[in-house]
Amino acid sequence: MTRIEIVRRALAAVGGRRYLEIGVKDGACFHAIEAETKVAVDPRFAFRVPLRARVRSAAGANDGTLYFRTTSDAFFARHGARLAPFDVVFVDGLHTDEQAYRDVLGALAVLQPGGRVVVHDCNPQTAAAAAPSLAEAARTEGFAGDWNGDVYRAIVRLRRRTDLDVAVIDTDQGVGLVARGAPRTRLELTADGVDRLGYAELERDRAHLLGLEPASRLGELLARH
Ligand SMILES: C[S@@+](CC[C@H](N)C(=O)[O-])C[C@H]1O[C@@H](n2cnc3c(N)ncnc32)[C@H](O)[C@@H]1O
Repeated sequence: MTRIEIVRRALAAVGGRRYLEIGVKDGACFHAIEAETKVAVDPRFAFRVPLRARVRSAAGANDGTLYFRTTSDAFFARHGARLAPFDVVFVDGLHTDEQAYRDVLGALAVLQPGGRVVVHDCNPQTAAAAAPSLAEAARTEGFAGDWNGDVYRAIVRLRRRTDLDVAVIDTDQGVGLVARGAPRTRLELTADGVDRLGYAELERDRAHLLGLEPASRLGELLARH
């Protein structure tokens, strides 16, 4: 199961009509998603944004397919409230703990009640892929080109909260699902404990730390809340 199928299933589960993707690159996911309104955010799109859509986006349209060539922080600050609410937000921008955590909070602020935040790159498989920066990943033994960063730490941080239900589907680099509501399982870690968490601890206890779930449980997880 891919992230694209999970986004599609999440949209279908909430009868979703409005979709936001943070970090779009070549549009492999964005172009494959069908929704009445789709909003793309990336400071460096790896494709040519159609002129008409560029003009509509800049003119303040709030439906159809819109593109914002900017960072997630700037998007949420300038356009988030105006374009809300979204049924599903896919967070797949800069793969650092701080940015991913901030992107999930930004996403929750524009999310429809009952909506879902989907987060990519939550379950790195090597220490190199889990390095906090791409430069550090490239210097780490075993680097094979994949860089998930320390998004996993943002997930662990979110799993301490009592008002969010957070799980990671064990597929396609780890696809996180965040919903408002009581958690199924909650981590009893201190904030310092999360800051100190490294790849070695993740490797020892990933199922518990991430709330890993098999793809076969996706339907059940999407039916909650
Ligand atoms: C892994 S790619 C996205 C892939 C895409 N979501 C998919 O599933 O096919 C990450 C993208 O995030 C973008 N990015 C980096 N920093 C960002 C930021 N601060 N805000 C939004 N996007 C960012 C990069 O330019 C890159 O295109």
